Amino acid sequence: MNPPFARSLFVVVALLRIAAADAPPSIVSHASSHADGRAAYSFDASAYTGDIKQLPVGVFDSGIGGLTVLEAILSLDAFNNDTLQPGADGRRDFENERFIYFGDQANMPYGNYPGSRKEDYLRELILKDAIFLLGRRAWPAGGAAPHFNKPPVKAIVIACNTATAYGLEDIRAAIEKWNIPVFVIGVVEAGARGVSETTRDGRKDAVAVLATVGTCNANAYPRAIGRVVGLAGKSVPGVVQQGCVSLAGAIEGDPAYLLPSQSAAESVVSIVRSDVTALVEKYRADGGGPPISRVVLGCTHFPLVQREIADAFSAARSAVPELRNLIAERIEFVNPAELTAKELFRGLASARLRLNGEEKCSLDRDAFFISVPNPSCTSAKITTDGSLDSAYKYGRMAGRFDVEDTIVVPMQLSKLPKASVGLIEDRLPEVAGRLGGARKK
Ligand code: DGL
Repeated sequence: MNPPFARSLFVVVALLRIAAADAPPSIVSHASSHADGRAAYSFDASAYTGDIKQLPVGVFDSGIGGLTVLEAILSLDAFNNDTLQPGADGRRDFENERFIYFGDQANMPYGNYPGSRKEDYLRELILKDAIFLLGRRAWPAGGAAPHFNKPPVKAIVIACNTATAYGLEDIRAAIEKWNIPVFVIGVVEAGARGVSETTRDGRKDAVAVLATVGTCNANAYPRAIGRVVGLAGKSVPGVVQQGCVSLAGAIEGDPAYLLPSQSAAESVVSIVRSDVTALVEKYRADGGGPPISRVVLGCTHFPLVQREIADAFSAARSAVPELRNLIAERIEFVNPAELTAKELFRGLASARLRLNGEEKCSLDRDAFFISVPNPSCTSAKITTDGSLDSAYKYGRMAGRFDVEDTIVVPMQLSKLPKASVGLIEDRLPEVAGRLGGARKK
């Protein structure tokens, strides 16, 4: 091949690559061309032509882990509700707001799609989540056809680290293309802001990030921390990450992620220990540095096991002499959930979408939805326990808007794994209270 031709070929291939990476997934055009919201993966755009202040706020995650973020939102009292200034006033900051929560349980774990080279499919799933929240289309439990009674939302909180890492920019770009006045926030940016707030002059430490493999592969936290701390004019701390393959699943008590002959609780402790040790060992192998004194809980589920994580760091510190200098005596946790809640407050206030005084939301009570495999989808491979077959799940191709292999139905506690229900009831009291109706179903 002659050199000028090879050079031009190289340039063309590089440009095509850039175009492919930046091209908005075709689901964006699919939604635009079905603007009445009747088709799967579309939403009724007319909902966004008038005032949207009375609409609820949408919160989504790959599963039920994002309920930890909703719990933080529901219990937040960090601002004065009348003056909007920082400082608690004894009133919940979102007292007038209502929320629609969606957990894409049938398609999770999201953190494992990138490892199966299915980033495109994951990006599409994340856009589908946003489209569900924007739309009116949902399915009744056990029903044969969708209804169109679900209220649209005025803001979207991505309560999933992996979905923020792979989908935040796509959703923002799509919203711009659809020309709708909805704002979007994601947990990763909020977590990075938490790191920035705790970065003080002269603080010499390293920040550890525990997250899914997907979030770590996307380098979401190191990039966000670099950006946010850098913009604040502070010196950026070193960041060490550990991708946790099975911890989220084990926390949910999913048998596929538990260790042989160990209970769910024992498995969690063992997995946390091995992930924490792997993280610090990697730090040491890379030459080490100042001690790790801040840990970002970079996965929705991890705030639920903060105590176990703290114990694992102190166990590693006392058990392995070589690791002693790499772990601070006291670990400070950065929980993106609470920071996301604060960011939501500021976002609603500055967009003038916050309900105050006597203003009421169009929705009486918070609503909870979850995805399940669609029993009438003939091409879907569904296992005997009612979930999507793993090879099928991670083998799907993007762009098939005619295939509705999962559908979104009301969340019923009786259909969730026992361990998940236990977690909700024991650790998420605000959410559990609002899910009261779902318990009876
Ligand atoms: N919700 C995901 C996150 O925060 C964890 C579970 C999953 O991989 O889907 O990254």
